[in-house]
Amino acid sequence: MVSLDIQNIRGANDALLLQQAVEANELLHTGRGKGADFLGWITLPSDITTAHLEDIKQSAAHLREIAQVVVVIGIGGSYLGAKAVQEALQNSFHFLAKNRQAPYVVYAGENISEDYTAELLEALKEYEFAAIVISKSGTTTEPAIAFRLIKAAIEERYGKEGARERIVAVTDAERGALKTLATSEGYKTFVIPDNVGGRFSVLTPVGLLPLAVAGVDIDALVEGARNMEAATAVGVRTEQNIALQYAAARNALYRAGKKIEILGSYEPRLQYIAEWWKQLYGESEGKEGKGIFPAGVTYTADLHSMGQYIQEGERNLFETIISVERSSAEVTINKTDDNLDGLNFLAGKRLTEVNAKAEIGVRIAHEDGGVPNIRIAVTQIDAFHIGALLYFFEKACGISGYILGVNPFDQPGVEAYKRNMFALLEKPGYENETKAILARL
Ligand code: PA5
Repeated sequence: MVSLDIQNIRGANDALLLQQAVEANELLHTGRGKGADFLGWITLPSDITTAHLEDIKQSAAHLREIAQVVVVIGIGGSYLGAKAVQEALQNSFHFLAKNRQAPYVVYAGENISEDYTAELLEALKEYEFAAIVISKSGTTTEPAIAFRLIKAAIEERYGKEGARERIVAVTDAERGALKTLATSEGYKTFVIPDNVGGRFSVLTPVGLLPLAVAGVDIDALVEGARNMEAATAVGVRTEQNIALQYAAARNALYRAGKKIEILGSYEPRLQYIAEWWKQLYGESEGKEGKGIFPAGVTYTADLHSMGQYIQEGERNLFETIISVERSSAEVTINKTDDNLDGLNFLAGKRLTEVNAKAEIGVRIAHEDGGVPNIRIAVTQIDAFHIGALLYFFEKACGISGYILGVNPFDQPGVEAYKRNMFALLEKPGYENETKAILARL
């Protein structure tokens, strides 16, 4: 179960704001709002067929069989969802496991670092490997470069024929260089639906294929999302619709001058969920000079780095804490005879109890310090709950963007750096831009 606690958020129950949230949700469902061409994610969980999931699982099983390392190549929405769910659900020390059977799933194409790429190519020499290349547009520079290099490494080791069974492409049904290349090379291809934008695509093969390779129960993930789809649908009463409430609460805070939202948790495995969430909200809302700046922390670690600022710095922050109620394993603090470290008062307690007390203590301290706290409680971390959480955040994001008055489904600002980079790299067709930018250096 995923639930929401906004009882200490002033303005969260403002009738007008909640009405705006209800109307925003209706706009999403009727497709009469901004960016209506990109609303396919809304019914994605309930639209996914068993046959589609089986197709994904079959490809994943094949890759698991032939590869010890699967390189997932993508950036932004074509990377963060898979990475976030994988990190959330895998054992934190999976890399230490002896007699490991499952392949390592690693990522490339989300940076252009020469060192990172060189280290990856070097590491791959020791393993049987394969690749999943993901790009909706099929033209994004970072993953295109990484794919060119990884493809060459695969072909060098396994030949053209071998590459055909070791490379899977996830891209548009018709458009883009990746689609052309995949067709001409004869790669197995999965389609990213036209009406699902990158940052809302985790429940398409973009997320599901790498996750199935990583051993994630994608049926449970989709089932969790399906449950949340029903729980946040039009017609669900406002008091019970947590997507409406979260969207209203964060907009109430924004209007009251809280311009930065920090998503935190007390579970290090959720760190990349915050990275995924940062993209989802940052890219959806940060436009037209508006939008809450999304930041992320992992507690208690970051209490020893960012804690000072959050407690006493500029008062333009609020926090949203993903609170995990049940841990999967049990660790109890032991008693010692000499009690030299003075910790016997904790003897017999489980770490979850201590972590929960830290969470309550921090919430009260931060609220006292002027940092409002929203709490999202999740029963436990498993595929079902993570699926529910992903859909919850997506739904609330669409509603929140509409309340803010922006189009949550475009990202015009992402193009500016690309133009400059292409101009500086003297890409054909950018001759005028090259001249102009060089004159500024
Ligand atoms: O959310 C988005 O649309 C972006 O973050 C894209 O996912 C990202 O830029 C990668 O694009 P593409 O999948 O076309 O390579």
